[in-house]
Amino acid sequence: MGTEEQGSQKTAGKVAPATGKLGVMVVGLGAVATTMIAGVEAVRRGLAKPIGSLTQMGTIRLGKRTDNTSPLIKDFVPLADLNDIVFTGWDIFEDNVYEAAAHAKVLDEKMLAQLKPYLETIKPLPAVFDQYYVKRLNGTHVKKGKNKRDLADQVIADIRAFKKTVDRVVVIWAASTEIFLEQTAVHQSIEAFEKGLEANDIAIAPSQIYAYAALSEGVPFANGAPGLTVDFPAMVELSKKNAAPICGKDFKTGQTLMKTVLAPALKARMLGVSGWFSTNILGNRDGEVLDDPQSFKTKEESKLGSLDYIFQPELYPDLYKNLYHKIRINYYPPRGDDKEAWDNIDIFGWLGYPMQIKVNFLCRDSILAAPIALDLVLFLDLAKRTPSLRSIGIQEWLSFYLKSPQSAPGLYPEHDLFIQSMKLKNTLRHIMGSDLITHLGLEYYD
Ligand SMILES: NC(=O)c1ccc[n+]([C@@H]2O[C@H](COP(=O)([O-])OP(=O)(O)OC[C@H]3O[C@@H](n4cnc5c(N)ncnc54)[C@H](O)[C@@H]3O)[C@@H](O)[C@H]2O)c1
Repeated sequence: MGTEEQGSQKTAGKVAPATGKLGVMVVGLGAVATTMIAGVEAVRRGLAKPIGSLTQMGTIRLGKRTDNTSPLIKDFVPLADLNDIVFTGWDIFEDNVYEAAAHAKVLDEKMLAQLKPYLETIKPLPAVFDQYYVKRLNGTHVKKGKNKRDLADQVIADIRAFKKTVDRVVVIWAASTEIFLEQTAVHQSIEAFEKGLEANDIAIAPSQIYAYAALSEGVPFANGAPGLTVDFPAMVELSKKNAAPICGKDFKTGQTLMKTVLAPALKARMLGVSGWFSTNILGNRDGEVLDDPQSFKTKEESKLGSLDYIFQPELYPDLYKNLYHKIRINYYPPRGDDKEAWDNIDIFGWLGYPMQIKVNFLCRDSILAAPIALDLVLFLDLAKRTPSLRSIGIQEWLSFYLKSPQSAPGLYPEHDLFIQSMKLKNTLRHIMGSDLITHLGLEYYD
């Protein structure tokens, strides 16, 4: 201590190597999923670079700044190699991944044509779906069962069958946003949840059925959407019991990424904020689903959280107590997956004088989300192979990727992107028995 580098406790056990095949089961083979799968194949073939992926392009500093030691993250921790990933998934439509990617219109035809023979081989398994939970979709490729328990057992059977063909499995939800649901008694323990499955409890959405199936099988589960899926006591209990890591929810891609960069800067300088208006237009299927008020409500809740936690108005009432935060998402078909987001931020400085900041982000939704989905899969697989991480349930160090980070009961979630990034990298140093970095750095001036 007292140096930039703080001594790390040596790890209790070694991280197991990533030998053999990693099976990735994606729920929902839509725009994000197909962009991830096609992208991984394009990178494997040397057709493009994995830009936006920390696991593939990021480095990590080890030791003092004067040591000049910054290996690639993938050379420092034992991550699955992209060549060892095998994809499968579920969808409510029968389209194979090539057809679904062509429909999503994220990647250009030339790129897709080169990948077509591979993408056509990935065909979705029938999904667990109920239109009550996603009003704007009507699926045809859907499992039938006598109750929700039966449907969960069918998903478990899918996972077991896939497990026979690979060495390890991770499940990721990249399916449509379900309606807003709140926790009920059924979510409070594994026992109550299992009774709820038998009784077809209406508070159990399809996403929860997939999560239950994965965690029951000891398989890590990531949630790319904002739904109530793994963020309740029964799932946390199941995750710990079966050493199946989980993390928060909802990929942090465009507007919220910017928010969790700008808000910490304003707060660090003690600048006040009186209003933050965020609006978006997007025209993909996700936009169409979010056009339904009940699905929008789920997204809105997820997007709203970040500012309150970052600004801590209870600690800084003069600066943030009266902040008016408004978020709109408008379905606008002509733009497809190319979202445009506007933020107007009303701030105030010295003696209360007002100023404004405007942010206009013209982004590509799935291009931003695909590397996040890949990184979450690879890091959850790493967590599963790490003795000090696999049985703790929530992997808070993965908050970096998520709009709604999940944390231990009673602990506020950390939304600041730079704190999240430091937490992630220090977790990697910690599990590898390397010194943590505190950025104190007094020893350079001795
Ligand atoms: N792209 C981003 O920047 C971003 C950011 C954060 C969150 N998300 C979330 O990621 C999810 C996927 O986004 P997308 O743009 O790929 O949407 P999409 O509509 O293109 O794809 C979703 C797919 O899920 C399928 N599906 C719906 N319910 C299902 C079920 N119960 N089982 C299996 N499949 C099901 C749909 O048929 C569709 O193919 C959405 O929930 C979205 O809100 C996206």
